[in-house]
Amino acid sequence: MWQAKVIMVNGELMPFAEARVHPLSLGMAYATTVFEGLRAYYNPAKREFALFRFAEHMRRMQVGMKLMRFDRIYDTAEMRDHLARLIRANDPDDDVYIRLLAYIEGIGLMATTGPVGFTAAAMPRDKPKFAETGMSLGVSSWHRLPDNASPPRIKSTANYHNARLTQLQAKADGYDGALMLTAAGKVSEAPIACFFMVRDGRLITPSITSDILESITRDTIITLYREATGHDCVEREVDRSELYFAEEAFCCGTGQEILPVTSIDKLPVGDGRIGPVTKMLRQRYFDVVRGNVPDHPEWRTVV
Ligand SMILES: Cc1ncc(COP(=O)(O)O)c(C=O)c1O
Repeated sequence: MWQAKVIMVNGELMPFAEARVHPLSLGMAYATTVFEGLRAYYNPAKREFALFRFAEHMRRMQVGMKLMRFDRIYDTAEMRDHLARLIRANDPDDDVYIRLLAYIEGIGLMATTGPVGFTAAAMPRDKPKFAETGMSLGVSSWHRLPDNASPPRIKSTANYHNARLTQLQAKADGYDGALMLTAAGKVSEAPIACFFMVRDGRLITPSITSDILESITRDTIITLYREATGHDCVEREVDRSELYFAEEAFCCGTGQEILPVTSIDKLPVGDGRIGPVTKMLRQRYFDVVRGNVPDHPEWRTVV
């Protein structure tokens, strides 16, 4: 597997191990950081790398920076050039996972809004565990953060304290992952992925107002499902007890891709095996992200 050689800080490339931030910067002290996880998929036949839904990732980051009142908001075209340079400098020969962080570098009081800096790293990433076997989820006793306290819809680092607590609890309890409920007890999402289930043959996912990240993979799956079946995915509030009626379930996200869920709270999902809707969507997803099919060229930014 290829290795990350260089990292980019504020547009400058440097050896991967040499990136630094001051421990008293606001990004560290108050988690005033917004980040993105992106993938650039390699298509060996075309010998090209394409960032998947780059514009949508940038849009989410820009809104996060605006909501957190950063002094400066990064421009999409400028960042595209930076990431293309970063990928080339690392000379990968397979898929690339990119971590892009924008943060307040300044040292100061809590309401400090600048100066703003960014770091971009391009790294290899193993195939997610459980992709082929399916995973077990446990419903967490930690609630998902509510929108009017620390909005989960933006990808701010601070939100991952909540996510991490649920993941740690799930591991301690012997599950592969966690599923969070909103403070009102409705299904929200997993710590680093969104959640889908199939009930009575129809795809269902918690509504965008269920204290979830505005996930780009969620939107991709909703679109691919509609195109493949002619049906809309049902976006609505999901009760906890509906989980046990599910015939299929999966988690998804840029980093996790599509992870089938085979049990919830130690009860099998359906017959406990990966189901046909999950398999069909997984195939469609990989065909589209990798550019094996001509569909949705607007989602792929060749770098
Ligand atoms: C909390 C959370 N939900 C959902 C997702 C999936 O988001 P996306 O599809 O935009 O990667 C992530 C991925 O990072 C996440 O951290």
